[in-house]
Amino acid sequence: MYGPGNFLEKTVEREGGLSSKTLIVAVTGASGALYAKLLLRHLWEQGVPVHLIPSGAGKLVYQLEVGTPLEEDLPPTVRCFDNKDFSAPPASGSVSYHGMVIVPCTMGTLAAVANGLSLNLIHRAADVCLKERRPLVVVPRETPLNRVHLANMLRLAEAGGIILPAMPGFYHHPRSLEDVGRFIVARILDQLGFPQDLVPPWNPEPEIFPGIAS
Ligand SMILES: Cc1cc2nc3c(=O)[nH]c(=O)nc-3n(C[C@H](O)[C@H](O)[C@H](O)COP(=O)(O)O)c2cc1C
Repeated sequence: MYGPGNFLEKTVEREGGLSSKTLIVAVTGASGALYAKLLLRHLWEQGVPVHLIPSGAGKLVYQLEVGTPLEEDLPPTVRCFDNKDFSAPPASGSVSYHGMVIVPCTMGTLAAVANGLSLNLIHRAADVCLKERRPLVVVPRETPLNRVHLANMLRLAEAGGIILPAMPGFYHHPRSLEDVGRFIVARILDQLGFPQDLVPPWNPEPEIFPGIAS
């Protein structure tokens, strides 16, 4: 029953549609569900396949902040995995993902990844990205930060993770919450090497960034 033939069959079947661009997106229980919503929508519009892993707290905070259960708000092509399912493709380095984003990322998940705990599928998938030298973008949200948070961020950065704090800029004159969110999504896409035109590169010309010159 557990022979190699069956294992391969199962892997191939579960990987259906996986391309070299497939991105793992994890949503954990920090404030900032809007960033995840906007990122998932943008990736879908751009045809980037996504394997999604929400944590339990991630689903709770998403519903609290966005007002819709995460599972009911997903673009149709997103494949969702249970955070306890260690047999899912993101758990194995043999499956060739483009990389992974944890957005938003709690201090708890950050600590687990920085210290190699692999207690759930999110931790394990992040650990795999680091060992396979694939980009791992972590979008932490907490304030203020204590010494443990800061030490874990440094530890993770030294292991190859990209720490991209949920710290939106305001020089592009956002007019809505979505504009604020798009700033962070644009920075995430830049780090992953995906083209984006959500926020233009900084340019002091008034027609590009209105209000800057006044
Ligand atoms: C409304 C709400 C907002 C939260 N915001 C944060 C946050 O910004 N940062 C954080 O580290 N934890 C936050 N938490 C706490 C985490 O959800 C909690 O520590 C949880 O155990 C994290 O689990 P996870 O990392 O598996 O998602 C928040 C919880 C709730 C209910």
